[in-house]
Amino acid sequence: MLIAQLTDTHIKPRGRLAYRQVDTAACLERAVAAVNALDPRPDVVLFTGDLVDAGRPEEYGLFRDLTGPLKAPAILVPGNHDDRGAMVAAWPDDPRLPRDGGFLHHTVEDWPVRLVVLDTVEPGSGAGRLCAERLAWLDARLSEQPDRPTVLALHHPPFATGIAHMDRIGLAGADALATVVRRHPQVERALAGHLHRPILARWAGTVASTAPSVAHQVALDLRPDGPSAFVMEPPGFQLHLWRDGEGIVSHTAVIGAFDGPYPFFDGDRLID
Ligand SMILES: [Fe+2]
Ligand SMILES: [Fe+2]
Repeated sequence: MLIAQLTDTHIKPRGRLAYRQVDTAACLERAVAAVNALDPRPDVVLFTGDLVDAGRPEEYGLFRDLTGPLKAPAILVPGNHDDRGAMVAAWPDDPRLPRDGGFLHHTVEDWPVRLVVLDTVEPGSGAGRLCAERLAWLDARLSEQPDRPTVLALHHPPFATGIAHMDRIGLAGADALATVVRRHPQVERALAGHLHRPILARWAGTVASTAPSVAHQVALDLRPDGPSAFVMEPPGFQLHLWRDGEGIVSHTAVIGAFDGPYPFFDGDRLID
């Protein structure tokens, strides 16, 4: 099973730039083309939140138009820039999105690796939260299939990253989440977004990570007083490859046109 993780697309209304700088629609278009060009093709495309920039219906409309050409089904995780009601309304035909007016958490059972989507959104806040109700839901879901490899997908990473301004809008309830996850060793990964950078941590007996944004990246700044800033480093996405007996290995892909590939040959001599 191959999972493509795309994150923090931050789609604006058509024709508007994010932060007056970033053409996030063009970025998503390039990301979709890059994913569709992969061979082998991913089984599923996991969007780990901040699908749009301001939770507006027209932004979701554009996101939907831009992701329409994807040749694999999209799994949608809400982030702090998303709006639950507008998100559900944008996909009236998606059976995976809960329509009870509550959290958008759900499980995806269609592939060998089970995906458990967690809703960390705390409306009105950039920070995320996992309350007792959401953790109880997670504990119950993980208890259902203790032997099945499982990936948690959530927007806010459950670990502090050292990027101070982002850690200030981190995940409340992360310790309680870790307590739940430690009880369920089938959790192979916790895949998050929000940080707009690839970051990896040992966490709760498993591996937790964030993926690069397909648009703008958060500046790599580990100073405790580092300002909130983004940079236009090359965008990217991650590929999580699960093979029976091997577990999951994760790759970070950069989006763009680059020279190569070239063979590792010098004349007729192999040089690697
Ligand atoms: Fe974001
Ligand atoms: Fe975010």
